[in-house]
Amino acid sequence: MSYAIETYDLTKIYKSEEKTVVAVDSLNLNVEKGLVFGLLGPNGAGKTTLIMMLTGLTLPTSGSGKVLGYDIVKESLQIRRKVGLLPDPFGFYDHLTAEQNLEYIAALNDISKAERKKRVKEVLTAVGLYEVKDRKVGGFSRGMKQRLGIAQALIKDPELLIFDEPTAGLDPEGARAFREQVGRLSKEGKTIMLSTHLLFEVGPLCNYIAIIDRGKLIVQGRVRELVEKMMVEEGYRIRVKATGDVQTLITNIAQLNEVSEVKREGDTILIKANRDVRSDVNKIALSLGLEVLSLQIEEPTLEDLFMKYYRRGEVAEHA
Ligand SMILES: Nc1ncnc2c1ncn2[C@@H]1O[C@H](COP(=O)(O)OP(=O)(O)OP(=O)(O)O)[C@@H](O)[C@H]1O
Ligand SMILES: [Mg+2]
Repeated sequence: MSYAIETYDLTKIYKSEEKTVVAVDSLNLNVEKGLVFGLLGPNGAGKTTLIMMLTGLTLPTSGSGKVLGYDIVKESLQIRRKVGLLPDPFGFYDHLTAEQNLEYIAALNDISKAERKKRVKEVLTAVGLYEVKDRKVGGFSRGMKQRLGIAQALIKDPELLIFDEPTAGLDPEGARAFREQVGRLSKEGKTIMLSTHLLFEVGPLCNYIAIIDRGKLIVQGRVRELVEKMMVEEGYRIRVKATGDVQTLITNIAQLNEVSEVKREGDTILIKANRDVRSDVNKIALSLGLEVLSLQIEEPTLEDLFMKYYRRGEVAEHA
C-alpha cells in the first residue's frame, strides 16, 4: 500500500507554565495516494498543528509519521521538496508584486532562472491572478492573497498539496474557482489534503475524510464506505412515488419484516428498513396494479455523517 500520509500515535503537547494542551493526541492516520483528503474539525481541533508536524515545521512530542514515504522528523527536507503547502495564515512581502513574490518563492525552491518565469506565469494563470501580476501584494484583498497562496503551493508542481483552511476569506466565486482547481489537480493524480472547519464548503470535494476533535481522531475512511456503513448501521431510507391506492401500498410495505417504519410524506412514501427492500416494494406495487413513478434510496449526506460522528453545536454554527 502506498500512503501519502501515515501517522503512528502522533502526538503534540504544548506546555506552558499555566497549562498543558494536547493539541494532537495519539493520532493514527493512513491516507492513500491520489485521494482528496479532508481533515475536518472545529477550531482548536489540532488541524494546523498536525499539518506543521507533517511538513517539518514543528516536531512531534511523541509518535511518528511519514509523508510520501519520508519520515516527518528525519526526512523533512525531502518532504518539503515534494509538498506544496498553503499555510494558515500565510506571509507575503507586501511591497513586492504578485509576480515578484512568486519568483522569490520559486528561487527558494531551487527552480532554475530559465524555468521560473514560465512556472510563475502558469500558476498565476491557474489561480486567475495573471492580470494583476504587477500589482503590489499589500493592496490585495484577503481572497486575492489566498489565491496567491494557492499559486505558491503549486509552484514546484508538488506531488502532495496541503491546504490549511483554503476557502477562508474567499468569496463564493473564489470558493467555486478553488473547488474546480482541486478537481483539476486531483485528475492530474495529485494527492490533496484540505484542512477545514468549513465542512460544507470543502467536504463535498473529498473522497476520504478524517474528523478530529480536541486532538483525537473520531473517524476516518473513504466517504463512500462511511456512507455505506452508516446505511447498514442506521437503516436504509427509501422513497417511493406511486400512483393509485397508496394507502394499501403502505399497509403492505409495513408488513415486510425488514421494514421498521413507513409513512406518507407529501406525494411520496418514506420507508425505513434494515435492508434495501426496493425490489420487494416494486413487487408489491405490481401485484396491486400500481404504477411506480420513482423508487430511490436516500443516502446519508455528508452532514448526516458528520452529525453521527460529531455532534457538538459549534461545528454546525461555523459550517
Ligand atoms: N504554539 C502553540 N502554543 C501553545 N498552544 C498552541 C500552540 N499552537 C496551537 N496551540 C493549541 O493547540 C490546540 C490546537 O490548535 P490548532 O491551531 O492546531 O487547531 P486548528 O484545528 O488548526 O484550529 P483552527 O480551526 O482555529 O485553525 C489549540 O488548543 C491551540 O490553542
Ligand atoms: Mg488551524
